[in-house]
Amino acid sequence: MCGIVGYVGPGSSLDVLISGLRRLEYRGYDSAGVSVIDPEVGLQTRKRAGKLSVLVEELEKNPIKDAHIGIGHTRWATHGAPTDGNAHPHLGGSHQKLSLIHNGIIENFSELKSELLSLGVKFSSETDTEVAAHLIAREYDASGDLSSAFRSVVNRLHGAFTLLCIHEDHPGVIYAARRNAPLVIGFGEHENFLGSDVAAFVEHTKRAASVGQDQIVELRADSVKVIDFAGNPVEVDEFTVSWDASAASKGGWSSFMAKEIADQPQAVADTLMGRLSSDGSVKLSEFAGLDTLKDVNRIIITACGTAAYAGEVAKYAIEKWAKLPTTVELAHELRYRDPVIDDKTLVVAISQSGETMDTLMAIRYAKERGAKVLSICNTQGATLARESDATIYTHAGPEVAVASTKAFTAQITAGYLVALSLAALRQSMPQPELNELGKELLKLPRAVKEVLESVDRMRELGKELANAKSVLFLGRNTGFPIAMEGALKLKELAYIHAEGFAAGELKHGPIALIEEGQPVIVVVPSQSAPDAIHSKVISNIQEIKARGARVIAIAERGDDEVAKFAHEVFYVPALQPMISAPLSVIPLQVFALELSSAKGLDVDQPRNLAKSVTVE
Ligand code: F6R
Repeated sequence: MCGIVGYVGPGSSLDVLISGLRRLEYRGYDSAGVSVIDPEVGLQTRKRAGKLSVLVEELEKNPIKDAHIGIGHTRWATHGAPTDGNAHPHLGGSHQKLSLIHNGIIENFSELKSELLSLGVKFSSETDTEVAAHLIAREYDASGDLSSAFRSVVNRLHGAFTLLCIHEDHPGVIYAARRNAPLVIGFGEHENFLGSDVAAFVEHTKRAASVGQDQIVELRADSVKVIDFAGNPVEVDEFTVSWDASAASKGGWSSFMAKEIADQPQAVADTLMGRLSSDGSVKLSEFAGLDTLKDVNRIIITACGTAAYAGEVAKYAIEKWAKLPTTVELAHELRYRDPVIDDKTLVVAISQSGETMDTLMAIRYAKERGAKVLSICNTQGATLARESDATIYTHAGPEVAVASTKAFTAQITAGYLVALSLAALRQSMPQPELNELGKELLKLPRAVKEVLESVDRMRELGKELANAKSVLFLGRNTGFPIAMEGALKLKELAYIHAEGFAAGELKHGPIALIEEGQPVIVVVPSQSAPDAIHSKVISNIQEIKARGARVIAIAERGDDEVAKFAHEVFYVPALQPMISAPLSVIPLQVFALELSSAKGLDVDQPRNLAKSVTVE
């Protein structure tokens, strides 16, 4: 939550900051602001409530002199309403020469604020951030040493923070600190960058390094120095960003979400690439870091939101193929309920951003209890990857739209790879059977593409149901998490009531919701799925239809049975029943996108949300 960018170098700081903020806006869009320092004019700041476009208009109406050093912020409000006054940067000191931006929550801010108020300091915002600006400015005024003032204050702060600070007396340096919130350095030629993630500066440089926990960066045009909070020098590990700036632009699509839905065949193919051979055998070199995998006796998959639904699909595959007891736990529940975790537990954490605080807290807790952590993550250098014993990257490319789409299908794909690898390692199924499953998995990118080529009816349906008050989703087996994901997409994008239910649970209560005309989207299992679950769902369809529901089914091509009962059927290609799970979500993504657009809503930036949830 909140996007942060910093620049020092010979170029235009305003250009770098605004283009960086544009790429980070998915992290929060309650307000935006910039500060730059020109040696003659001094510190200049502009900030406005609302999206980045409001700040850009403000800079046109009320320009500032461009400079070669600056910091920029896009906010997801935690402390204080989204107003101009609460927008970052916050200024500190009696002469307001210091400017500071922050991502995270300073948990002891109220105690620090009382201390400052008793010293007569005047506050101009309701944020937790402003205390840090005043504290650093006061220490600097007393000592004249900005570096030590900054380090001394960050050591007094509790909670989660990335801070970037500039001071008019020092127009060549940005001080930055990181604890429990992301911060990445970008290395250029006689210029350097800071960002909440590499998207902030990838159009300028692909050389990057993640800043570790409790570290401070002193960033100048020609040097980057990193120390820990105690002042000891730290070496950072440089990496090369594997995608281009064009991957994080709309590229002619009406929205990032539309583009990211269309990216899915590639996202799935790239996630399989190099890991699945043409003979169907899986090789996950990432497992090499987990030598104790053979001894694991249970798996806990942990994640939040969409990533947790991907985890649910992975659970079905792991239990079926690798025969390992597996549960899925929402990270914020796992962390605070005293779970039984030991060194025989493998925790699989799934996260697109790799910065979700709930998920990070859960893995830290699991590691303290001796568990090994394997993460499935989409963001290079993310905190989750740094803190896991091994990481399988989903190669979905940058996901900018707040609602997750391509990361979800890539996470399920990675989940299948993990399940097949574990099954091979544990010899829980004959290798030829595993290879057959692997070969089926190779067909997934093509099948995803076929679904995308035939979603027009879902688009129309989205428009047709634009005035619906509620849409229900039903599924069974892997179709259940897909139904929940379909409902989540609709809630977050179209702000209408949507629920995903296990079809078998209907008669235990939810069927009371069905009345004349209620739209219900049913994810129908494959006819070849075991245990006659297909016919059970067909019975569920008849039960709700008899009570007035308008039934829209998502079913496998060739399923003529369902057409006899549903009002209409949207067909997806037939694959092995477990592996076909992600195909059914694509029509649901398209449906939510179209319904939201038909209501005139912003599909990329739904209200109240931010993409990367870096606070608990
Ligand atoms: C919904 C959505 C969220 C995220 C969740 C976890 O569309 O995007 O539910 O899936 O906040 O985020 P990551 O995957 O970054 O940990």
